[in-house]
Amino acid sequence: MNSPRGLRYADDVLGGPGEAERMRLAAMARVCDPTTTRVLDELGATAGWRCLEVGAGGGSIATWLADRVTTTGQVVATDVDTRHLAGLATGHLIVRQHDITRDPLPGGEPFDLVHARFVLEHLPEREEVLDRLLSWLKPGGVILLESIAGFPIDSSPHPRFREAMRGIDLVLARTIGTDSTWARGFPEPLLKRRLVDVGMTVHLPTTGGGNASAQCWALTLARLRPRIRELDLVPDETLDEALDQLADPAFFDVTFATAVAWGRAPAGRR
Ligand SMILES: C[S@@+](CC[C@H](N)C(=O)[O-])C[C@H]1O[C@@H](n2cnc3c(N)ncnc32)[C@H](O)[C@@H]1O
Repeated sequence: MNSPRGLRYADDVLGGPGEAERMRLAAMARVCDPTTTRVLDELGATAGWRCLEVGAGGGSIATWLADRVTTTGQVVATDVDTRHLAGLATGHLIVRQHDITRDPLPGGEPFDLVHARFVLEHLPEREEVLDRLLSWLKPGGVILLESIAGFPIDSSPHPRFREAMRGIDLVLARTIGTDSTWARGFPEPLLKRRLVDVGMTVHLPTTGGGNASAQCWALTLARLRPRIRELDLVPDETLDEALDQLADPAFFDVTFATAVAWGRAPAGRR
C-alpha cells in the first residue's frame, strides 16, 4: 500500500541521522519510557524472554529490555534506519536493519514479546504489519502496541498551538499516510484478532514548562515545517507563535495522547 505522496517515514519527512533527530528521539524516550517500562513490568517481562523491539529509534526500550531479560534472554532491535542504534549491540542485544512492512522474521525464531511504539500509525499498511507481528509471537507471547492518538488536540484552549499541532497531524497524514485516529479504537485491533488478556491504557503527557514533551514537539514542528509550508497547511506566523509557546516556561497544554494496548497470543496458537 502506498502513502499519499509515495513517501515513507524515513524519506526525509522524519528520521535521518542528524543531531536534531537524535535529540527528538531522546526527548520522546524521556516522556514515554516511564509508561512503557511500567506496562512491560506489569506484563511480566523477565529474565529469559526473547523480545522484538520494532522501529527501535534511539534504542532506550531495547536497552531497558536487554537489562531486564538478562543474558539468558535476547532482544532483537530493528529499524529501517539503525544509525541511532550504533554502539548499542551487546551479546544478547542484536541490532538489525529491517523494514517491518516486508522483511522476514528477524532473528529466525518467534518471540515472547513484540513491542512497537510510534511505528504502526505511520505505516499505511498497519493492519497487515500487525498480522505479521502477531505471526512472530510464540504461543502465549505478548504484543504491546503504542501509537499517537490526536483526539486531545481539538480541545486545546490555545488556538495557534492547536492549529500548529493539527498541522503536524495533517502533514504526516498527507505525506506518509500517518493515521492519528487508528489508536483511538484500541484495543479493537487486538480483540478482533482473538488475542487474550487484552487491555489498554492512555498516556497523556503534559506539554509545557519547557519539559521533554515540549522539546520533542518543538523539534518535530521545526522538522516538519518545510513540508507544512510546501502543502500550505498552516501560516508561518502561527508556527512561530506555537514554537514560542513551546519554549515558554509558563505555557502548558497537552498534545497527542499515546494509546497503549496489549494482548497475548492464545497458548495453543501457532
Ligand atoms: C517515532 S520513531 C519511534 C522510535 C521508538 N520506537 C520510540 O518510541 O522511541 C519511529 C521509528 O520507526 C522507524 N520506522 C519507520 N518505518 C519503519 C519500517 N517500515 N520498519 C521498521 N522501522 C520503521 C523509524 O526509523 C523510527 O526510528
